[in-house]
Amino acid sequence: MKLALSFAVLAACAFGQVTYTREISRVFQEKCQGCHREGDIGPFVLDSYEAAMTWGEDIQRVIETKQMPPWKPVAGHGEFQNNFGLSDEQRDLILNWYRGGAPEGDARDLPEPTAQTGEFQLGDPDVVLTMPQTYSLNRRGDIYRCFVIPTDFGVDRYTDAIQVVPGNRQVVHHVILYLDTSGKARQMDGKDGNPGYDCFGGPGDGIPLTLSSMAGGWVPGTRAARLPEGVGTLLPKGVDVIMQVHYYPGGRTQQEDQTKVGLYFSKQEVNKRLVYLPVVNTSFRIPAGAESYDVVANFPIPPLFDATAFLVAPHMHLLGTKFKLEKLKPNGTTESLIYVDDWDFNWQGFYKYQQPIRLNAFDRLRATCTFNNSEKNPKNPSNPLKVVRWGEGTEDEMCLGFLGVTFDRENIIPFNMPIAF
Ligand code: HEC
Repeated sequence: MKLALSFAVLAACAFGQVTYTREISRVFQEKCQGCHREGDIGPFVLDSYEAAMTWGEDIQRVIETKQMPPWKPVAGHGEFQNNFGLSDEQRDLILNWYRGGAPEGDARDLPEPTAQTGEFQLGDPDVVLTMPQTYSLNRRGDIYRCFVIPTDFGVDRYTDAIQVVPGNRQVVHHVILYLDTSGKARQMDGKDGNPGYDCFGGPGDGIPLTLSSMAGGWVPGTRAARLPEGVGTLLPKGVDVIMQVHYYPGGRTQQEDQTKVGLYFSKQEVNKRLVYLPVVNTSFRIPAGAESYDVVANFPIPPLFDATAFLVAPHMHLLGTKFKLEKLKPNGTTESLIYVDDWDFNWQGFYKYQQPIRLNAFDRLRATCTFNNSEKNPKNPSNPLKVVRWGEGTEDEMCLGFLGVTFDRENIIPFNMPIAF
């Protein structure tokens, strides 16, 4: 990314003028087309000079307000793969180009169009799990629905990649995968006459959340990637995969979806199991009317629990405004692992680190969740205002940072330890 940018800047200096064909098209390709392409979630396709002009005013507005692209981690707090955020230089480059009359440039300078990969970016998966039935979106507004997909592998299986393929990219906004070995999800499935069941901030009421009950997630713009060699996600024999889907129909009516998940089984021996370590506080109380209320969660790494973190996924609900996760070392130094300063429940990411993060015994992980429980928060679902505590519902909150980790000493880990409920 840095290379592409310096190329753009160099080129601009060398040739005097920034053009669409030389610089701007390349930035749009890298940072926008993950979503603004045919059939995807972006409301228009941004792959030509004409589109850049037609949408010019909107593009300038959303880039200025940083509403687009919806990349949440603030620069300087963790380095992530597949970063589709704009740097300040890229933002200025685009805005100055528009202000300077938006010259098109020479068509010979255009980049190669991005290859449209097939459905599965890593080739054919070993197994594809598909929602058992099509789901018809028969309600307006956001829908959060859990679908239960049984597996019938006769043995425990490890995967080194899992890729979600939205059935209907125009309405599928995010997907979170949970694993259920309790059989409770099956019991809730279809009770209201439609496939699945409603769920908001987790896998559903009464389904235990443990170190090993998450299996990743997907938001638009995510690219599939394999875990490092020797690391795998365990799908225990007979497990049910719960696919939590957030549908964002907007003005689109009469939509149907059948999302699927491709599983890639580990071909090498797995000696490290990826689990989701929660940095969580479940006993807070956010006063009614509080405009900026911090909840802090601590997780001291116990002796012998030295670990390596590969990814991070912050989680709060509608009152959340900021999320910070830090590593505090015994020598007093602090490392920022992620900082999101305009939290949006609808753009939850699973952010993969460029370089894995070491977590040593006696390091302390500290999450700081900031909430706005006042009437000034347009997303506040409670009217009248009320005290808000931990829970799965739309009007409850969570302060939870998941780190996807492996433990150095696997054999001592209580993987089924409940973490929150
Ligand atoms: C991760 C997916 C994603 C990426 C990347 C993305 N967009 Fe969007 N964009 C959306 C979605 C979804 C919407 C619909 C409205 C919303 O959800 O905010 C949207 C809406 C817009 C709008 C209309 C917003 C309005 O208020 O009218 C503009 C303009 C826009 N995007 C420009 C861009 C530009 C320019 C880039 C790259 C610099 C970009 N987007 C990158 C998903 C994306």
